[in-house]
Amino acid sequence: MKYENIIYEVKDSVGILTVNRPDKLNALNSHVIDEVVDALGEAKKSEEVKALIITGSGSKAFVAGADIPEIQKIGLKDGMDFSRRGQEMTRNVEELGKPSIAAVNGLALGGGCELALGCTFRILSETAKLGLPELALGAMPGYGGTQRMSRIIGKSRTLWMILTGDMLSAHEALQLGLANKVVKPEELMEVAAATAKKMAQKPSLAMKMCIMAVNHGAETDLESGLFLESALANILLGSQDKTEGIAAFVEKRKPIFTGK
Ligand code: COA
Repeated sequence: MKYENIIYEVKDSVGILTVNRPDKLNALNSHVIDEVVDALGEAKKSEEVKALIITGSGSKAFVAGADIPEIQKIGLKDGMDFSRRGQEMTRNVEELGKPSIAAVNGLALGGGCELALGCTFRILSETAKLGLPELALGAMPGYGGTQRMSRIIGKSRTLWMILTGDMLSAHEALQLGLANKVVKPEELMEVAAATAKKMAQKPSLAMKMCIMAVNHGAETDLESGLFLESALANILLGSQDKTEGIAAFVEKRKPIFTGK
């Protein structure tokens, strides 16, 4: 087996990455992060993988955060690198170039919540809870939580979560637009897989461009975002998939997309 603390498998064009350290509530130590980054690289490169699901082992936790005993050993000298490595992991999820779904099966705390925030979508079990409790340890979110959370639910709600340590229930997360769906625990992987499979059938180049347009456009002014949209739309208008998609519509048949 290539990995010790994660399981990475590919089924029906969907990569499934399971953080597998249930005795430590799937906490992310640097070894786990190395493995997640490696598997993300595999998923990104693979032509077979069209979408990715990230989940946690067991029913209690998705990921309960960065590994606390490891944080205990980190000081001023290497704290920046520690945070940047975690950010690299969440950034790599965001920049996968393919849709990713966090199938949140339980507690998503600290780095776990931040990992879910890097995903394109979040599908939550009714039992899931999301929180950024680092302040209780005298620390703060460092894997993108202060930035991505506020971009989704707003500054004030984000600061409320961070400064009070209050967790959001699955239904609260849904109301705030942080969760895309809330499902029964026993249906979580089925719904995540069905959603991923639905996207796996879409033209992959067009999906990549849409994710880029929305992610990068959200970080810029409207005019630059519109310019980016036109440039990406132009690439697609010259693609084989667009020729095929239009031809299939005209000929009243199902398109066969190649991602080119
Ligand atoms: N890092 C390392 N280990 C962790 C962990 C983390 N972030 N979160 C939980 N664990 C470990 C516990 O130490 C425990 O290990 P042990 O059995 O060897 O002692 C095991 O996972 C089970 O956790 P436990 O605390 O016994 O479960 P609980 O149901 O009583 O409490 C939590 C669950 C999530 C409330 C509690 O574990 C917690 O507060 N964890 C830290 C969450 C956090 O602050 N995350 C952000 C870190 S920056």
